[in-house]
Order: sequence, then structure tokens, then C-alpha cells
Amino acid sequence: MKAQRKAVVLGTGFNVPDNVVTNDDLAKIVDTSDEWIRSRTGIVERRQIPDDDSLFQLSLPAARQAIENAGITPEDIDLIIFSTFTPDYQVPATACMVQAALGCTKAGAFDLQAACTGFIYGSSIACQFIATGTYKHVLVIGGDVTTRISDFTDRNSCVLFGDGVGAAVYGPGDNDDEGVFDNLLGAIGSGAEYIMIKNGGSMHRPTVEAIQNREHYLTINGKEVFKFSTKIVGDMIEEVLTRNNLTLDDVAMIIPHQANIRIIESAAKRFKCPIEKFYVNIDRYGNTVAATIPIAMHEALKEGKIKKGDIVLLVGFGGGLTYGIIPIKWGSYTNPKV
Ligand code: ACO
Repeated sequence: MKAQRKAVVLGTGFNVPDNVVTNDDLAKIVDTSDEWIRSRTGIVERRQIPDDDSLFQLSLPAARQAIENAGITPEDIDLIIFSTFTPDYQVPATACMVQAALGCTKAGAFDLQAACTGFIYGSSIACQFIATGTYKHVLVIGGDVTTRISDFTDRNSCVLFGDGVGAAVYGPGDNDDEGVFDNLLGAIGSGAEYIMIKNGGSMHRPTVEAIQNREHYLTINGKEVFKFSTKIVGDMIEEVLTRNNLTLDDVAMIIPHQANIRIIESAAKRFKCPIEKFYVNIDRYGNTVAATIPIAMHEALKEGKIKKGDIVLLVGFGGGLTYGIIPIKWGSYTNPKV
């Protein structure tokens, strides 16, 4: 076993489909309005992949960008973790398709399912491999094409989601001071039914009747998930700060999962801190599930909002129910080339 080493973000990338779907576009197919969606969620528009596109194809530019920004080549990647709840197939893993297409010939590859917390779970695993010295470069992709499993007759869920992919390469930092310095992962499995696709797994056969009952689509109990989310975001931030002897003043930026602007506002209110401390782009992409955090991270870097030495919190929550937070003392990668 080699020396323990904290992992830093070495490179990031993202990709969203060109096709923009506005709230008014959705109001043409389901009983909703721009005013309702904006005021209840903060979403103005989202992206949707065309029929001939796929999660795999969407993920390639994001992954290539992250590898290029890290200043390494695909052969340098030791492991690919693809966090998604909308893989192209049940088997093979989308991560394996990406591994072949990118030419990451030395990398292991697997998919990870933790819904909207997927990128946090994937990043936590990456950090363990880097800390033990087992692997040097781990590519974590968070991506979902939720419009493929959205029921566009159900206004409770279809307005919330958009398609996108974000990616990050993790590797050892320049010194022991910087990098991911804690991981907090959790689950409340008793809330499993609140975010669910009933059919499509091995529990029930995909019968014609099940499809006619629309059981292959995502359903969410928005009220229950909202209650869980508003509480858990604040609780996680508080716990990770306390056990690391930090206060919110020590934190430069919080990158939360983008599910609803009201969840982010509620966290800002609880800590009496300006909303600007939280990175927000839900207005442009909606909830891209496992992709929200790496997309936001890349955009925050592009906008010059993260500096070397900054403490950044990545905060996820969602289906499972799952939750997780990663605090990072940011390293040298602050200026994505592409
Ligand atoms: N357009 C118009 N009206 C709507 C819409 C819509 N798109 N959706 C629901 N409504 C109606 C409801 O039918 C309800 O009407 P009623 O009072 O006549 O029954 C009314 O609006 C209010 O519904 P609520 O559920 O109380 O609305 P709320 O203010 O709670 O907002 C929302 C709903 C946006 C879904 C919110 O609960 C939410 O954001 N939940 C959390 C989502 C989340 O965190 N997701 C992350 C995890 S997702 C994952 O992991 C895959």
C-alpha cells in the first residue's frame, strides 16, 4: 500500500444537447405554465436530446474535455465511474462503451446508480482509490438523459428535468494540504418509493399492460422529496463544517445539486448567507440529475469563481433517497483550457 494522498480535481468538462426546451414549449403539451415552473422551481429552460442521440454519445465530448483540461491522455486514465440512472442499456455499462470510444485502454469501467447524488458517490469512490495510491487518474462522469424516461403527460415530474453530462478527472494533489478532505454519504431507503421507475428492472416483467400503465416512466412525490431535500442540504453542510472545525465563512463556494431554486434559497436562509455563495444554473438546464454538480463545477471555474486554496462544498441529494457532501480544498486547476 502506498502513501495516503488527497485527491484534487485535475480537469472538468461538460456537454448538453443543442435543443432548448422552454417552459412555454412544455405548456403546449402538458397543463402547466412558464409562471408556475419559474416561480416553483427556478427553471426557465432545459435541454433535450434528439431521438438519434444517446447518453453515451452525449458523454464523449464532456469526458474528452475533462481529460484534455487535466493535461493527460486517455491512456492515463486508470478507472472510469459513470454515475447515471438513465444508462443506455441495463448491460453493458455505459462506462464500458465510453472506455472503448475514448481509448482508455488501461482503465476499469463501471456504472454507478445513486440518482442525483451519483456524482458525489462516484467522486467519493475515486478519492479512496487515489488516497491509497492504487490509481492515479480516475474519470468520474455524471450524466443523465431523463427526458427519455419522463412521462410527458405528467406535469408533476416532466417539467423538472433536462439532459446533460458533466465530467471530472481526479488525481493526487501537489501537496498534502489540498484536495478532498472528507466524504459524507448517506441514504434514507425508507423513502425509496418517492422517486421511482416501477418497471424496467428485474422485479417486474415489461408487459404490454405495464407499458400501457406508463410504469416505465419516472414518478416523483415532489412534496416528500422537497421536505427531505431542504432538511438534508442544511444538515449535511452543518455536519461537515462542524467535524472539520470550519464555519461557513471559511467556505468560498457551495455547488449544490440543482433540483429546485427554493431548496437552495432555503439553505441560504438557514445559514443566513447570501445566495451568491451557492452556484446556480438551474434556470438554464433544469435538473440534469447526476450531471448538475460537475456541470456547475465546470461553469464556476470558467467564470473564474474558484481559486487555488478555496474551500468548495459539493452537495448532492436525490433518488434512493440518497445524499452526500464532499468538501475540497481546491488545487491548481482553476482555468479550464477548453
Ligand atoms: N404546472 C402547474 N401546476 C402544477 C405542476 C406544473 N408543472 N406540477 C404540479 N402542479 C400543481 C399540483 O397539481 C398542485 O395542484 P393542487 O394543489 O390542485 O393539487 C399544485 O401545483 C401544488 O403542487 P405542490 O406539489 O404542492 O407544488 P410544490 O410547490 O411542492 O412544487 C415541486 C412541486 C416543484 C415538484 C417541488 O415539490 C420540488 O421541487 N420537489 C423536489 C424535487 C427534487 O428535489 N428532486 C431531486 C431529486 S430528483 C432525482 O433524484 C431523480
